Amino acid sequence: MAASIFAAVPASPPVAVFKLTADFREDSDSRKVNLGVGAYRTDEGQPWVLPVVKKVEQMIANDNSLNHEYLPILGLPEFRANASRIALGDDSPAIKDKRVGSVQSLGGTGALRIGAEFLRRWYNGNNNTATPVYVSTPTWENHNSVFMDAGFKDIRTYHYWDAAKRGLDLQGLLNDLEKAPEFSIFILHACAHNPTGTDPTPEQWKQIAAVMKRRNLFPFFDSAYQGFASGSLEKDAWAVRYFVSEGFELFCAQSFSKNFGLYNERVGNLTVVGKDADNVQRVLSQMEKIVRTTWSNPPSQGARIVATTLASPQLFDEWKGNVKTMADRVLLMRSELRSRLEALGTPGTWNHITEQIGMFSFTGLNPKQVEYMVKEKHIYLMASGRINMCGLTTKNLDYVAKSIHEAVTKIQ
Ligand SMILES: Cc1ncc(COP(=O)(O)O)c(C=O)c1O
Repeated sequence: MAASIFAAVPASPPVAVFKLTADFREDSDSRKVNLGVGAYRTDEGQPWVLPVVKKVEQMIANDNSLNHEYLPILGLPEFRANASRIALGDDSPAIKDKRVGSVQSLGGTGALRIGAEFLRRWYNGNNNTATPVYVSTPTWENHNSVFMDAGFKDIRTYHYWDAAKRGLDLQGLLNDLEKAPEFSIFILHACAHNPTGTDPTPEQWKQIAAVMKRRNLFPFFDSAYQGFASGSLEKDAWAVRYFVSEGFELFCAQSFSKNFGLYNERVGNLTVVGKDADNVQRVLSQMEKIVRTTWSNPPSQGARIVATTLASPQLFDEWKGNVKTMADRVLLMRSELRSRLEALGTPGTWNHITEQIGMFSFTGLNPKQVEYMVKEKHIYLMASGRINMCGLTTKNLDYVAKSIHEAVTKIQ
């Protein structure tokens, strides 16, 4: 038999976070804990279908006017409008001026990808693959690859995390903004920075925006955790809204995976803010071309759930309550973990655990300590030391805290 035409295809390494979950599933130790997964868990360690989502799913199932016809290429109009409204605010002047456009996407990843494809074709001169794209160090692992796969050739990093002080390296970040070639693209985490859980303060955002404006740098916000960081949709959208108020043209990739718990429905939106309605319409017409050859048109179920919820004042309030339930549980786990580590006298300072926000915390554990946690303690976390606070429960907190204590004291 002739050799396979795929014989020369090299095996690609597995995606780290999915591999971690697979290893966790196979582990038969009863003490095992998964702090790797990027999803919300209840205090029983279970996934949570938001009560408002269950209710709206029933409403959709009972609505005989709905069918399974194709959606328009750019998506469900009421979903797109409401998604952009929660990013930019009810009284956004940009919305009033009709200079906001939206593209329904397959999750936040799809929004990033459509945005990246568009920029590669049309930003700063057409077919421009040489424009530098800057991502934070560290960042969500997919940022690099999404922009690379869209054709960008010059992906760079900007300073973000200061390991020594376990906080934002503002000066490093501002220096990188000053040094970047004009018109470079900057991927900014709108809130709840993944993986560090460390966001700029409003004052720091103002400094960032001032340099970006002066140097003509393009902000591409990634908003995957609106509501999760502080429990408030408004606070978590502060940076995006501030940039809009400063007159920036920008993109904002929104994910509804986490704040609606709709991970597998793939619900996202790309909000485009331009200078005027005419510009935005032309941009959307090009995005329509990109979507047509990518997924042709998006799925409807998740978008219907989100649109129905956001459009009804009563359901909207219920949803905000559900988001707050999740955010509050994360906050509780943060303070419980910190107080346990401090009570144990674990070397180092642990205030960063409560100062960081969102789902993730950058513990500061080094790769060897992480390996000890995984191999000896059956506690699964990313090699970077990132933990998902939702993996903690009132039942496993003591065990996790003692294990971190052991890892830090035994392994340097
Ligand atoms: C920073 C960041 N951006 C985007 C995403 C992608 O979200 P989605 O699952 O909706 O594609 C994630 C998911 O983990 C994320 O953490």
